[in-house]
Amino acid sequence: MQFADRLNNVETSAIRELFKLLGKPGIISFAGGFPDAALFDVEGISLASQAALQSDPGAALQYGATEGYQPLREGIATLMSAKAAPLKPDELVVTTGSQQALDLIGKTMISPGDKVIVEAPTFLATIQCFRLYGANLISAPIDENGVKVDELERLIVEHKPKLVYLIPTFGNPSGGMLTLERRKRVLEIAAKHHTLIVEDDPYGDLYFNQAPPPSMLALASQVPGSRDWLAHCGSLSKVLSPGLRVGWMVAPPALLSKAVMCKQFSDAHTSTFAQATAAQYLVSGRMKAALDRVRTTYAKRASLMCDELTAKLGDAVAFDAPHGGMFVWCRLTGAGALGRVTNSDDFAKRAIEKGVAFVPGAPFHATNPDRATFRLSFATSNEEKIVEGVARLSKALT
Ligand SMILES: Cc1ncc(COP(=O)(O)O)c(C=O)c1O
Repeated sequence: MQFADRLNNVETSAIRELFKLLGKPGIISFAGGFPDAALFDVEGISLASQAALQSDPGAALQYGATEGYQPLREGIATLMSAKAAPLKPDELVVTTGSQQALDLIGKTMISPGDKVIVEAPTFLATIQCFRLYGANLISAPIDENGVKVDELERLIVEHKPKLVYLIPTFGNPSGGMLTLERRKRVLEIAAKHHTLIVEDDPYGDLYFNQAPPPSMLALASQVPGSRDWLAHCGSLSKVLSPGLRVGWMVAPPALLSKAVMCKQFSDAHTSTFAQATAAQYLVSGRMKAALDRVRTTYAKRASLMCDELTAKLGDAVAFDAPHGGMFVWCRLTGAGALGRVTNSDDFAKRAIEKGVAFVPGAPFHATNPDRATFRLSFATSNEEKIVEGVARLSKALT
């Protein structure tokens, strides 16, 4: 069969290939990017779905507006306003997961050969999605405080990209957090160079002790002109349930209306039943308690994983302890008694043999893969599994 040329730019994700190995009995997986299913508020979602069917059955089961189910748009606007980003419902479109928002941005903004700046490392699905539209991806370096803004500005001036894609809060895979000062600088740069910034923020609510700085969407009101150059993607996946497939996109009106047009041709609208359920859940008042449970559990797991890594792998592995999210981003240093393995693909194979899985870091790099890096997720493993899993990691290095 003769497939479209655009498929020449992408391949099946290395992570999916790895997932095939996860069926092995007894494997402890730090590989997935899933939230812990045991923390889903099943009762709350069940009540919300019943309420959706009882209060508005026609809307919940009928075709709906492409922009989204109005009560949910209102609920999301309230949610965002509570996080210092005052929003009107018609300033956002509900998407089928935030993944669809990213796809719509690709579809509306990227022509083959267009330059797009992403962080190194960044979300694998975004790399794949933007490549499908023919993007020429350029990597901007990050440190423990997020993207390096001077370097980002230099790259913008040099390459005049169509857009810059950032995950400023507890990034996947970096777990990093862009500082308040840098967030403002990025907004200033966007306004100065008329460059669209896409803020992808599915993890911002998953902070452990202290809330992160406000989103760039919230800060845009303090930086004149920046809101015209900012798109923001949000999601209920990591805070409520990814199976609902409810995300959203806030964007300047011209971009939003083009995205709605493309969504019309794609899935017509996000499941009205899922949207009506999500809308009922948001007004049920259960979100705070559900989020507190998730935050407390992930905070304990993250801290235990970091302690175990330090205790059992010593200086063979370097990482910054995350302040939120689901991931610890690590690097094999080659140092110490366990420093023999420095390639994370080799390490991943040895680890699978010892009964523990994680994702090697190369695929998260759009260019110049750093093969010493790898991603560990602590979200779905209980304390016993974290202790045992890290012990197996250390065995895989000996
Ligand atoms: C950075 C980032 N953006 C977007 C998504 C997509 O999430 P969803 O489509 O479930 O909202 C994910 C999911 O893992 C992610 O890590």
